[in-house]
Amino acid sequence: MKVKKAVIPAAGFGTRMLPAAKAVPKEMICIAGRPAIHYIVKEAVDSGIEDILIITSRGKTAIEDYFDYSPELESRLEMSGKTDLLNEVHEIAEMANITFIRQKELKGLGHAVMHAKSFTGDEPFAVLLGDDIMRSDVPVTKQLIENAEKYECSCVGVKCVDSSDISKYSSLAVEPITDKLFDVKKLIEKPTPDKVLSNYAILGRYVLTGDIYSFLENAEPGFGGEIQLTDALNALCNKERMLALEFEGERFDSGNICGYMEASIQLALANPEVSEWLKNYMKGLTL
Ligand code: G1P
Repeated sequence: MKVKKAVIPAAGFGTRMLPAAKAVPKEMICIAGRPAIHYIVKEAVDSGIEDILIITSRGKTAIEDYFDYSPELESRLEMSGKTDLLNEVHEIAEMANITFIRQKELKGLGHAVMHAKSFTGDEPFAVLLGDDIMRSDVPVTKQLIENAEKYECSCVGVKCVDSSDISKYSSLAVEPITDKLFDVKKLIEKPTPDKVLSNYAILGRYVLTGDIYSFLENAEPGFGGEIQLTDALNALCNKERMLALEFEGERFDSGNICGYMEASIQLALANPEVSEWLKNYMKGLTL
């Protein structure tokens, strides 16, 4: 089994980032000098992914423009001798083979992923959710791919979250294989307190076998009346092996204002161009 394709769902209104997301796709909101989706595509590329499908919706054409060539801008930068910027802008268009498809009706994450069927065929593929920005030594998607390829099955990225937060996520019943790797036995999306299976939650990264589609196609609307990927995963893990990896690295939820600020500060601190300045600035703040 080889994982060479990735799917990035980027439809959705971005209600937690309104009013900015009214006119700017939330995936294009700038985090430490790059739009959020830049970090997601880079993680996929750094994980060995060659082809990427981004699932968009109305009002998201800025994402396509960002990953396209920009001949007028590039010739202006060339004329003014701004070679570093020119190279950077040009390289973004060459990061990966990126295809776009539009989800015309927003019926949930599972419904979005179904749009990838003609792109992935029966091949296994990674899914990276745009809100979840990772900082890790080994890209989180790569960590999942290594396990999915080794065990030849699906593998989802998890962490233990606070009991007070688990109802915002999917909750998993798992059995340990090692201290970081688990067999998944059951999943539930956004459980009420009496339905929580454990505090292990999927945090925005998946490697899935092509078998997921038959469960997505038969999925009934779940939490929020939407077709939930988690419900299809629950059906899939009854049929074939599924792993959960407690990945190494930090995850920031850039889809809400506090997570976005956390990601901005942490990624700026990791950027040698601005980290010293930022540290000095923060030291000088009187709070
Ligand atoms: C989605 C998934 C959920 C997952 C979460 C964090 O929820 O449906 O299972 O735990 O992302 O990655 P959302 O944040 O879109 O409500």
